[in-house]
Amino acid sequence: MLIFLHLAVLLSLLAPSLPFIQPPASRIPRPPSPLRSSDYDTTSAPVRSLVSSLTSLVNALSRPSPPPPPSTGPPLPPSAVLEGIRADYVERLYLWTGDIDPDLYSPNCTFTDPTLSFTGLAKFQSNLANLQPLLERFVKDPEVDLYSCELSEDSRSVAADWRMRADLNLPWRPAIDLNGTTTFRLLPPQGEGGGRIEDYRERWGMGAGEALLQIVTPGKWRGVEREGAE
Ligand SMILES: *[C@@H]1O[C@H](CO)[C@@H](O)[C@H](O)[C@H]1NC(C)=O
Ligand SMILES: *[C@@H]1O[C@H](CO)[C@@H](O)[C@H](O)[C@H]1NC(C)=O
Repeated sequence: MLIFLHLAVLLSLLAPSLPFIQPPASRIPRPPSPLRSSDYDTTSAPVRSLVSSLTSLVNALSRPSPPPPPSTGPPLPPSAVLEGIRADYVERLYLWTGDIDPDLYSPNCTFTDPTLSFTGLAKFQSNLANLQPLLERFVKDPEVDLYSCELSEDSRSVAADWRMRADLNLPWRPAIDLNGTTTFRLLPPQGEGGGRIEDYRERWGMGAGEALLQIVTPGKWRGVEREGAE
């Protein structure tokens, strides 16, 4: 869900300048370039500074949230949390939509990815309303593959291996393709609000800069047959 925030912020920055960066219609798209970190050197300085200032932008957008209310609701058994997480991935496609089941999370859950860490379910949710429409507009054919999603032996954490892919509705036809692992650490399954996720930690299968620079890498749409589909 965190790359969701990054993408939405990047798109909100790119969208107003689209008329200026849109290539002429006659221009032949550049051949796809391999996703290596060496691409970073050929990327323009404004784009690099965009990416490097992402974290501060996301933090700026995140207004300080009120202190978390006490967790409510009966304790959730680990099996229910596991099923809920699975549904967030494969039914709600939360990696692309941000649409999580909030009842699975403790109000002061800490969310961390390779570039960003913040605490508070409310903070995530308050950004959501503003950012969601952007992704609805720019993300096409989103897919989430859930390779595995399992409880640890002690039932105190869930680990999920996933891949998220989508084309982005931008003139230079970029696509996002990211593998990752998320570890969800759970509260003890007793008492009011028990069993919920208290720590969310994402690791990505490539460098953070490389992952985000996919948004400016041209010609990555996943196949001609999809191009007429929208
Ligand atoms: C929030 O987290 C702290 C530890 O980081 C914990 O002591 C506290 O009980 C938590 N509050 C809620 C509402 O879960
Ligand atoms: C993600 O993992 C799959 C399966 O291992 C692999 O085929 C694919 O190339 C990987 N994608 C990226 C972007 O690393």
